[in-house]
Amino acid sequence: MTISRRGLLGLGAAAAGALLTAREGQAQAPPANGPVAIASGNGEGSVDRAYKMMSEGKDPLDAGVAGVEIQELDPEDTSVGLGGLPNADGVVQLDASCMHGPSRRAGAVGALEGIATAAAVAQAVLERTDHIMLVGEGAKRFALELGFKETELLTERSRKAWLRWRANLNPNDNWIDYPEDAPSTTGTINLCARDANGDLASVTTTSGLSWKIPGRVGDSPIIGAGQYCDNEVGAAGSTGRGEANIQVCGAFLTVESMRQGLAPQDACLKTLERVVAATESRLLDDAGRPLFGLSFYALAKDGRFGAATLYPSRKGREPAGFAVADHRGARLEPMATLYDQRPKSWGA
Ligand code: GLY
Repeated sequence: MTISRRGLLGLGAAAAGALLTAREGQAQAPPANGPVAIASGNGEGSVDRAYKMMSEGKDPLDAGVAGVEIQELDPEDTSVGLGGLPNADGVVQLDASCMHGPSRRAGAVGALEGIATAAAVAQAVLERTDHIMLVGEGAKRFALELGFKETELLTERSRKAWLRWRANLNPNDNWIDYPEDAPSTTGTINLCARDANGDLASVTTTSGLSWKIPGRVGDSPIIGAGQYCDNEVGAAGSTGRGEANIQVCGAFLTVESMRQGLAPQDACLKTLERVVAATESRLLDDAGRPLFGLSFYALAKDGRFGAATLYPSRKGREPAGFAVADHRGARLEPMATLYDQRPKSWGA
């Protein structure tokens, strides 16, 4: 019998415990002594860097922002920073936000062009201004004034993917269609960090939904959606379809569920259940399952962590799990899933 963690949430604790696989159990392991960093599945290198920095006594936000910078500067990651897939005009627009538990501060940028390290710009908004979010031209000017370097974010690879997407948009236009559609992404990186004192930080950075309408801002720069951190409770963040997350303030909701006593993984699953309940019918299959992907990651103040996603990953196309670094090293851990299988109408 295959059973999703959705089913387990409704069972008594003893029955649910018996059904948990050993690997799922790891995701809610007892608190680690010392720093912990968790991230989306593209962030194994990022959590490793963040963990090492916190082990040297660095602040959890500095560690998290430095961690996600690895993906922001990696031209092969088409969901973040340099090499991110562009908007419908072929322009890369980045979103990012962060929170720092001890100082209770937040910063964000939306639709930022020409600066690869959007998370560091969000951190600068947090540290140097009385605002929380800067967008568009103002965000870029702010970054340039602070000394961030302007870079062409559209790589050859992402430019070619955009040309393919544009040609295949309409069979009746004057562009000759490509045999295969262009890849698309709602990928992103979220990283939550806890240092040895139990202080927390969270950061999320992305190039957003590929081929988006210019000016579209997703969940990543929205405090309480793309990420959220409360130094007394925990930190959480999200990757996937931002529109679905914004509607439930998913990172905030996940932290609030932990405040009420849910373990991190169960808090993520509960948020996904809320997403499903809030989803309009055009985005659901006949069985009421969402026709999109969405994941949540959660780290409690005591070092417990967990993550959950709607559907199992497609081998070779999505990261199989979420990234963790603690005293046991950096690794991928399996995520709980709300459903066992993808809807066939959504590329099972
Ligand atoms: N979660 C990334 C986005 O929707 O922009």
